[in-house]
Amino acid sequence: MERLFELSAVDMAGVDALIRARLASDVPLIPALGEHLVEAGGKRLRPLLTVAAARLCGGGGEGACKLAAAVEFIHTATLLHDDVVDGSKLRRGKVAAHLIWGGAASVLVGDFLFARAFELMVETGRLQALNILARASRIIAEGEVLQLTRAHDLELDQGTYLEIIRGKTAELFAAAAEAGAVVAGGSAAQVKALAAYGLQLGLAFQLTDDALDYGGASETLGKNAGDDFREGKVTLPLLLAIRRCGARETEFWRRAVGAPPADGEQSDADFRRARDLIAGTGALSDTLALAQDYADAAKAELRIFASGEWRASLEALADFAVERTA
Ligand code: IPE
Ligand code: IPE
Ligand code: MG
Ligand code: MG
Repeated sequence: MERLFELSAVDMAGVDALIRARLASDVPLIPALGEHLVEAGGKRLRPLLTVAAARLCGGGGEGACKLAAAVEFIHTATLLHDDVVDGSKLRRGKVAAHLIWGGAASVLVGDFLFARAFELMVETGRLQALNILARASRIIAEGEVLQLTRAHDLELDQGTYLEIIRGKTAELFAAAAEAGAVVAGGSAAQVKALAAYGLQLGLAFQLTDDALDYGGASETLGKNAGDDFREGKVTLPLLLAIRRCGARETEFWRRAVGAPPADGEQSDADFRRARDLIAGTGALSDTLALAQDYADAAKAELRIFASGEWRASLEALADFAVERTA
């Protein structure tokens, strides 16, 4: 994983410079709010995917950096919107922007970042890349809305859960890798393989994220564990635990998760109880095992590429997505 950052250091420095330059605006609130989030860092996994996919296909350079910056802008825009929607208080170890500047400012600056992303994509003159990332942006919104309509739904099935995480997270990972391959002039088979790699990696990443919401620590995550539970979001660890507890805990789940927020009476003790049930029923370890299956499937997609440092470090990235604690 470290090796991937080393290999990509020059490209990623270019991406960082673009991100900082394009946060500029004559309206002072925009860079102020934008820099609050960007200065806090973030793992930059999605732009890394774009530049690495381009290099794996034997290309790279300015076009790849612009698309990578666009990908990170799309991601950052969704985070601003997401923290308003989820009512989250902590992001990247800092107070969430909406708690400082308000929800309206967060939503509108998120829109600015989306628009910036599209300007960057147009500058590359690659209609195919623009198509890939525009489609992903639309699917993210669909995933988020689908998730919203299924909150507090104790009957949510695993198939619908997977559809939600594919939409809200995995499709952008797929598009990030696919766009990198396209801008580098990769063959149709290479473009297809990198899109499939990104999709499986994104599923592994979000499954792990959902496990960390019950099994991780807020200090390392930089966001509060337990947010999903508080929001009544039925993620795989919760879904599996509900099934496995059967009738025993029906009343607890109904009160703590199934009830709409207004009359849902949830305490810290409820979260601890849910966390214990999720660990105790094996729901947490099974979620992580499924994440590892997707990570392994992601690695398998890279077999069409000659072995070398780029391929090996992208394989390592798939394992990192599951082993991470941050
Ligand atoms: C957060 O993504 C949103 C999810 C898809 C879980 P990251 O964990 O990649 O966020 P940053 O950019 O590193 O903060
Ligand atoms: C991640 O949403 C996906 C998007 C932001 C579109 P989550 O709500 O699951 O992610 P975190 O836990 O807030 O980072
Ligand atoms: Mg959230
Ligand atoms: Mg969310």
